[in-house]
Amino acid sequence: MIDHATVSQILDTADIVDVVSDFVTLKRRGANWVGLCPFHNDRTPSFYVSRAKGICKCFSCGQGGSAVNFIMLHEQMTYVEALKYLANKYHIEIKERELTDEERTEQTERESMLVLNEWACQFFENQLWESRDGQEIGLSYFRQRGFSDATIRKFRLGYCPEDRSALYKAAIAEGYNRDLLFKLGLCKDDQRGGGYDFYRGRVMFPIFNVAGKVIAFGGRTLKKDDHAKYFNSPDSLIYSKSHSTMYGLYQAKRAIASQGKCFIVEGYADVISMHQAGFENVIASSGTALTEGHIHLLHRFTENVTELFDGDEAGIHAALRGIDMLLKEGLNIKVLLLPDGEDPDSYARSHSSSEVEQYITDHETDFISFKTQILLKDAHGDPIKRSQAITDVVKSIAVIPSPITQTVYAKECATRFEIEEEVLLREIQKHIRKNRDDDFNRREREKRREEAQAANAEGTASDTDTVIVARPTSPKNTLLTPALFQQEQDLIRYVVKYGMCYFCETKTETDEEQSTTVVEFIQSELGMDMIQFSIPTFRKIFEIAIATVPEFYRDYEQFHLQVEKESDDEYKEQLKNIDPTGLTSAEIETKEQEMAGAINSRVSTKLNDYRMSYLERRLCSHLDDDVRNTACDLVSEKSPLSKIYSQYGTITSDAERLLTLVPKAIYTLKDAIVAVQIKQLQQQMKTATSSEQSLSIMQQLQQLFATRNQLSPLIGDRVISSL
Ligand code: CTP
Ligand code: MN
Repeated sequence: MIDHATVSQILDTADIVDVVSDFVTLKRRGANWVGLCPFHNDRTPSFYVSRAKGICKCFSCGQGGSAVNFIMLHEQMTYVEALKYLANKYHIEIKERELTDEERTEQTERESMLVLNEWACQFFENQLWESRDGQEIGLSYFRQRGFSDATIRKFRLGYCPEDRSALYKAAIAEGYNRDLLFKLGLCKDDQRGGGYDFYRGRVMFPIFNVAGKVIAFGGRTLKKDDHAKYFNSPDSLIYSKSHSTMYGLYQAKRAIASQGKCFIVEGYADVISMHQAGFENVIASSGTALTEGHIHLLHRFTENVTELFDGDEAGIHAALRGIDMLLKEGLNIKVLLLPDGEDPDSYARSHSSSEVEQYITDHETDFISFKTQILLKDAHGDPIKRSQAITDVVKSIAVIPSPITQTVYAKECATRFEIEEEVLLREIQKHIRKNRDDDFNRREREKRREEAQAANAEGTASDTDTVIVARPTSPKNTLLTPALFQQEQDLIRYVVKYGMCYFCETKTETDEEQSTTVVEFIQSELGMDMIQFSIPTFRKIFEIAIATVPEFYRDYEQFHLQVEKESDDEYKEQLKNIDPTGLTSAEIETKEQEMAGAINSRVSTKLNDYRMSYLERRLCSHLDDDVRNTACDLVSEKSPLSKIYSQYGTITSDAERLLTLVPKAIYTLKDAIVAVQIKQLQQQMKTATSSEQSLSIMQQLQQLFATRNQLSPLIGDRVISSL
C-alpha cells in the first residue's frame, strides 16, 4: 500500500515527455511532441505527447493516457507497479503503509510458496527431459500430440514420476517445509509423518501469474480410464482459481497488447497448440469456467475478445455463458465456433496457419448474430421463439456499460429482427432500470448484512431490521439520447479540465464572501434541479471531483504559501540589484513597481496553472480504469472551440471564458433533459386513455415548455456545443 501523499507526489513529479522518451524518440512539434506509436505498427508519427496536459495519445490507434497509463500499457504493469516504476525513476521514496504482524507472516509465507513452486516446476521439467520414464512416457506423449520441443520449453511442461513420493522426498531433502508442500497441493499428508505426491504419473502444466511466477499446476493423466483427466492446484495464498490468472496470459500478454485483441479458448492444450501455430494472443480460463475475476484481469490487456470454442453443445453453452459476462465488463466480444468435433487444439494442428487465419476471418461473428443464429435455429418462424430470442438479445445489450455501444447494437438488432429501433431502445431501457434496481437492492442487502454483522460483533443494537435505509432520490428518469449524451460530455469535460479553477465569489449563510470552484458551482446548479449525470462513468468522475475539493484547498494553500515565499525572496534579491546611481527617487519607485508587477504576474500564472492541472492530473491517473481512461479521452480531445475564436484573431482560451461557458453548458444540459421529457410526455399523450390523463399530461407539458422558454435566452446561440 503506497500512502496517499506519496501517490500525489509521484503524479505531480512525473513529466510525460520524459517518461515517454524512455521508450519512444520524440520530436518537438509546436506545443506538442510527436513520435512513432509504440502500440501499433506506426509508419508516420501519430503519437502525440502534450507536456501541458500531461498526457499522450496515438491519433491512429487511440492508445495513450497519463504517464501512469502509458507505463501500465507499455510495460504491462498494474497500477501500483506503474506507480512504483515512476517513483523509482524520479527517486521518490515509497512510503508504504506499515504491515501488520499478520500481513508480514502472510507475505513471507507467500514468498516461500512461490520459491517452492518454482523449485517444483524445475523438478518436473528435469524429470521430463532427463529421467528415463520422463522421456519415454511424458516427453513422448507431448511429442505425439505435436508439441515441438521449443513449445514444451516455452510453457515449461513437465512430468511427475509414478513413484509414490519422488517429489516429496526430494523437497524434504532440499529442506523445504512439509506444510507448504501440502498447502500448495503438491503432496498429501500420509498421516504417519510423511507424504506422497499428488500428481503421480501425470504430465504437468505450470500456471503462471502475469509476472511469470509459478502459482499453480494442472496435471493431466495419461491413463484412459482415469476418473479425472486433470488435477489442479487448490486455492492458496498465492492462487485463486477464479481470480489469479488465466492460462497462457503470461506468454500471451505482449501479443495481446500489440494486436489489440485476444482469443479465449477452453483448455491448456488449445492454448499451446494455437501458440505453436503462430497465434500467440490466446489464453484459457484455467481449470474453471470463466469468472468475473478473469475478465477483469483480461480487460487490463485488451478490450477486444473473441471466444473460440468447439462447435458442439458444450462449446455453444460455454460461449453463451461467457457473452454476458464479457459484455458487462465493457468488452467488445466476438464468437467463433469451430466445425463440430474440432477444438482449437486439433484444428490448429491439422491446418496451416493461413488456413486458421482464413477460418477466423470468415467465421468470426458479433454476439448478436451468434445469439440470433443459435436461438432461431429450430424456431422455424415460431413467433414465441422469435420474441424470446429478441428478449434474450435485448437483455445482453442492456448489460453493456457504454450507452454508445448500446445504441450501435440496438440498431444492429433492430435491423436483424426487423423491428423498430424505438421499441427496442425502450425495452433495453426497461432492462437497464431493472438491472440497476437489482444491483441497488443487492448492495443494500449486503450493506445491511454488514451493518448487522458489525452491530452483532459490537454486541450492541440487535433490532437492525428496523433500520430504515433511505433510497437516494433517483436521477430524473430519462431516455438517453445522443443530444443528452453530448451535453453531459461537454459539462463533464469542464469538470475534468477546469474543475478546481476559480469560478466566482458567493455569500455563505453568515454573509461571508467565499470563493467557489467550477466544480462546486456545477454541483449547486445540478443539485437545485436534482439532476445527476446519467452516464455512470461521468457520474463517478463528478463524485470524485466533488470529494477532491477539500483536499485541493489544503494543497493549494500550501502551494500558495510556498510560491509567495519564493517570490518574496526573488523580490528582495532583485531589489539589491537596482543601481540607484543617477536615478531620481520617482524613477526608482517606477522600477520597483515594474519588478513587483512582473513577479506578481508570474505568481498568478503559477497559481492558475496549479489550479488548472490539479484535478486533471488526478483524474487522468486515477486508480479506477474507467475514470482514468475517460478522463484522458476528455482531456486529449481537441476542442473545436479554440479554433473558432482564433479565426477572429482574438485567441481567448476556454479558461478565461469559464464564467460564460460553464453556465451555458449547464443550461444546455438542462434543456436537453427537458426536451427528452417533453418527447416522452408527447408519446404518452398519444396513448392516453382518459381525458383526465390527457389534461394532466398537458399541464406538465406546459410547465416544461415554460422552463424551456426560460432556458433559451440563457443558452443563447449555441457556441458552446462542441458537436
Ligand atoms: N479441466 C479440468 N479438469 C478436468 C477436465 C478439464 O480442470 N477433469 C479443465 C482443464 O483446464 C482443461 C480444460 O478444462 O484444459 C478443458 O478441458 P479439455 O478440453 O478436456 O482439456 P484439454 O486441455 O483440451 O485436454 P486434452 O486435449 O489433452 O484432452
Ligand atoms: Mn483438447
